[in-house]
Amino acid sequence: MARCFVTRELPGDAIERLRAAHEVEVWGKRLPPSPDELRVHTRAAEGLLCLLTDRVDRELIHAAPDLRAISNYAVGSDNIDLHAAAERGIPVGITPDVLTEATADMAFALLLAAARRLVEADADARRGEWKTWEPARLLGQDVHGRRLGIVGYGRIGRAVARRASGFDMEILHSGRSGGVALETLLESCDFVSLHCPLTPATRGLIGEAQLRRMRPRAVLVNTARGPIVDTDALVRALSEGWIGAAAVDVIDPEPPPADHPLFDAPNLTVVPHIASATHAARERMANLAADNLLAGLAGRPLPAVATAD
Ligand code: GLV
Ligand code: GLV
Repeated sequence: MARCFVTRELPGDAIERLRAAHEVEVWGKRLPPSPDELRVHTRAAEGLLCLLTDRVDRELIHAAPDLRAISNYAVGSDNIDLHAAAERGIPVGITPDVLTEATADMAFALLLAAARRLVEADADARRGEWKTWEPARLLGQDVHGRRLGIVGYGRIGRAVARRASGFDMEILHSGRSGGVALETLLESCDFVSLHCPLTPATRGLIGEAQLRRMRPRAVLVNTARGPIVDTDALVRALSEGWIGAAAVDVIDPEPPPADHPLFDAPNLTVVPHIASATHAARERMANLAADNLLAGLAGRPLPAVATAD
């Protein structure tokens, strides 16, 4: 029996499975523990199952002398100091694959929503603006036959490419695994969708210079991590028409204050970091996160482990 701290209730029976083997404390509130609360509850833990909203930094890892396994309920691991964990020999689990298709579905949903002005049109219809059929009302952009640039051509980027090929889109990609230069992609694509992890190399990857390179009607989709895009530059890009629209599942900062300037920017579709939020994907994530923690505590290799760059 190892002492475990789980930083939130999870869907499905993953926590029950942990409880069958270990002594498990679960943070039962809607909002995450503060850094102090996280430290207090992790101090005595041997296993930690955390969320992307929990910052597991060097200080936290050092304050938990018995910690032997960390399991992140996310495919991204940018909230965890992987080097500090590695120095202590603590494996860090993540949840790849099980959310790939759900996340790609959301990226494509955002792309379509922005191109065809879905959110704006829904609001219009409800507001009583549907007075007649008009030749030039709510005109959007073709998706089929256009060019999509995928930045970060890993599991999720490729899953988006599969969807795009069903729409007869031409696909360019750029990233660590090759493809074209980012500048070329930005200049030549009608849609740009981000699928790279957040690392020191990708933080601020899309800033003013990059947004200015994009086509005036281009649509930027971000389901990766907010800080990959410079938020202030994005607000200006939308307000001043450097690009046509943006559709984002993630922003910087998260959560944003209700009066964040991004919410006043034109042609923005925004959803609150829900790309993996299907019943099935979230249950699979919970089970994989539990399997990672169980394996780590038993000294076995984790089914899905994060590696420091
Ligand atoms: C979600 O953003 C994840 O990394 O799983
Ligand atoms: C639109 O509904 C059309 O028939 O063209």
